[in-house]
Amino acid sequence: MSNRFYITTPIYYVNAEPHLGHAYSTVVADVQNRYHKLQGEETFFLTGTDEHGDKIVQAALAQGLDPKSYADRISGMFRESWPLLEVEPDRFIRTTDPDHIKTVQMVLQKVYEKGDIEFREYEGLYCFGCERFYIERELVDGKCPDHNIEPVRLKEKNYFFLMSRYQDWLIDHIKTHPEFITPERYRNEVLSFLKEPLEDLCISRPTSRLTWGVPLPFDDGFVTYVWFDALVNYLSGLGYPDDDKFRRFWPVAEHVIAKDILKPHGIYWPTILRALDLPPYRRLHVHGYWQMKARKMSKSLGNVIRPGDLVEAFGADATRYCLMREMVFGLDAGFSEDAFVTRINADLANDLGNLFSRTLAMVKKYVNGRVPEPADPGLEEKRLMEGVDSLVPLWEGHMSAFETHRALQEIWKVINIANKMIDTTAPWELAKAGEERAGELNSVLYCLLEAQRIFSILISPVMPDTARRMQEALGLDARYSPGIGDTRWGMLRPGTKTERIASLFPRIDLKRARITGAVAKAEKEGGQRKGDKVEGQQEEGIISFEEFQKVDLRVGQVIAAEPVPRADRLLKLTVACPEERQIVAGIAEYLTPEQVVGKQVVVVVNLKPVKLRGVKSEGMLLAAKDARGLHLITTETAVEPGSKVS
Ligand code: MSP
Repeated sequence: MSNRFYITTPIYYVNAEPHLGHAYSTVVADVQNRYHKLQGEETFFLTGTDEHGDKIVQAALAQGLDPKSYADRISGMFRESWPLLEVEPDRFIRTTDPDHIKTVQMVLQKVYEKGDIEFREYEGLYCFGCERFYIERELVDGKCPDHNIEPVRLKEKNYFFLMSRYQDWLIDHIKTHPEFITPERYRNEVLSFLKEPLEDLCISRPTSRLTWGVPLPFDDGFVTYVWFDALVNYLSGLGYPDDDKFRRFWPVAEHVIAKDILKPHGIYWPTILRALDLPPYRRLHVHGYWQMKARKMSKSLGNVIRPGDLVEAFGADATRYCLMREMVFGLDAGFSEDAFVTRINADLANDLGNLFSRTLAMVKKYVNGRVPEPADPGLEEKRLMEGVDSLVPLWEGHMSAFETHRALQEIWKVINIANKMIDTTAPWELAKAGEERAGELNSVLYCLLEAQRIFSILISPVMPDTARRMQEALGLDARYSPGIGDTRWGMLRPGTKTERIASLFPRIDLKRARITGAVAKAEKEGGQRKGDKVEGQQEEGIISFEEFQKVDLRVGQVIAAEPVPRADRLLKLTVACPEERQIVAGIAEYLTPEQVVGKQVVVVVNLKPVKLRGVKSEGMLLAAKDARGLHLITTETAVEPGSKVS
């Protein structure tokens, strides 16, 4: 195995704020980066933002900003999201970074001089949303499959990258390198695409149509097409061509993407690299979509979950665990807050958290909090030791193959062997028997502690903070920085002083998580509603009259309204119901303060108060949304504020 590792995420468009989908790819890359560090490798982890092109200009215009100020703002949001999730990239690259722009121009010049770029007149079907020409067979019912609109016929002169020259080479490379694109289904998808002759790739946009891009070094009447600009980030991020980082890390490059951008990464990128006489990346890892009730989570569908909201509700480690455990890499996964909460309560609070706190409590009570000297292991301890021994290579195999969910499954099997061992060996009985059974007690406790030291190492790529907390409680120095060699059994030194800590993971109350998180809102905005699961309830989404009556709905009169600073979507309202209360409503995109003041509205008055962007909100207005916009629910005639709605 090579002793270096270079991992990248897609660089995200700044036309949307970061959401769970972006967070997933980025956490996958961070987990891999940490895993390879644990293997003692020298690693480099690159992420960043993609900031040029028409999409960004449109998004900036919609907010009344120039493209750069707009890009600065959204790029900043991505950069700030990652530490919340304990993601630690070595570089956060922006396509507006001067060194990147220089590299893109250098790359273009090189490919141009090689004769792989040609100037031609082209007439074709252009989708402005995708910023690309389509060929007939790619359209669905004559429409762009992504935007569902008919592309426009455009005729213009442009520069083309002669990608077709490298088609045979690419087919051969994919066939002779089975791991080049994984999982296999995506490799097959690319190979099947390559069965048809490749069209050459249009790589320029005339400045008459777009100026927000990198100018072509050989013709200032054109800027570069976003993909040529974006893909090159994987080289410029390493300081290509002169920096030593490039020499060290390019040969071990691995990219993480979702299936939406398989074609640019599976076809454009390796052919561009070939044209540059560079070796292709080592592996491309392609995952599926996070969906909200069978629809891709995306800004345009308005059904996104913000990473910060998840971290606030569950904590960073638990969020990372759920992301990695709930998605089979390569397949789509449905996001459900219930599933996350169930996972956290079962796997983290119960299985791991209880095991850890029970063990430390027993160590404190029976052996003064010190790691005991292990005696001859009994049958149960041997089972646990064997479980741990065979776990390590299994875990390594899955982690190396990006099958994190399976790696975690394997760890949890052994965590459960440890939990069962406590029940079967009953250390409290051994303690009661005194000196006579002290050897057995020591052996059981030592095994439990040692197994958990090893678990802490194995979970550390996914849950770095929990791993550290476990290691500290096990009396390992704060500077303890274990490597894969430390997963060998028997390294915990007898006599080490352990510390009890507050529970590793508090149990989460599903109803509370619902209300404090933005999840319910996103579920609703995605066009779906999920009823709270109520005990004894059979049909999903059906509630009893008693349950409905728990919601206290009142007529309110809006007496004041003002925008919330730095929150484009929020208005702060004062509503008389009849006592005055402050309500923050996400209606600013649809209604101005003037349109709301004086209105009678329907308010949920017994909702637990929350803070939205730091502003207290004591209730919620009812509103309906359709294609024309958002409509507040109001009364037919004037009603006394505070009247009950039922
Ligand atoms: N800017 C290009 C990528 C250029 S890379 C050289 C782009 N940006 S994007 O903002 O649209 O990001 C797409 C990527 O975000 C996906 O490939 C995936 O990594 C992540 N995801 C966005 N939505 C997602 C889901 N709903 N589910 C899983 N991942 C998703 O394309």
